[in-house]
Amino acid sequence: MNASQPTLPLVAVLTISDRSATGNQKDRSGPELADALSKHLQWDCIAKKTVADEPDQIRAQLCRWADHDGIQLILTTGGTGFSERDVTPEATLLVIHRQAPGLVEAIRAASLSITPYAMLSRAVAGIRNKCLIINLPGNPKAVREALAVLAPVLPHALELITGNTVSNVHSRHP
Ligand code: MTE
Repeated sequence: MNASQPTLPLVAVLTISDRSATGNQKDRSGPELADALSKHLQWDCIAKKTVADEPDQIRAQLCRWADHDGIQLILTTGGTGFSERDVTPEATLLVIHRQAPGLVEAIRAASLSITPYAMLSRAVAGIRNKCLIINLPGNPKAVREALAVLAPVLPHALELITGNTVSNVHSRHP
């Protein structure tokens, strides 16, 4: 493929929740995230999955998408808080090669003007080979707020990682 031709990135959404994984609670954050991606960037989410708050399940799914399925952006939702079962950041840190702290710092900073509870998200972000992985909180409202912060920089972030021009509504830098 011509490197200068804009391409749509391959995006996946991983919901991390014991209750959603067992079917005891409907997943609202995953669909909310896919919706926000479409609204802000006109990107489709090509894969969606729900796993329990289990480090091995989280790690395996992130690696499968990044290493075998060629996914370029994985957004996770849930499991970033302080409860004992919240292990998303730890599982993500085992998978990424390089951290991207600016992304989660920006989300926390913007979210603090909405709720002080933003401090309670331990979300991390980073790069595994040519895939960007970003943790978001589990609350559907938080997901929408976080994506509004990320949207303007995601295209350029993915261009830097993949070396391809990424097609989107924010084709130029902010
Ligand atoms: N960020 C935004 N923008 N809006 C929110 O409502 N909720 C917070 C925080 N971040 C929130 C937010 C709360 S209450 C918690 S406990 C943490 O995210 C972690 O949520 P998680 O464990 O579902 O990932």
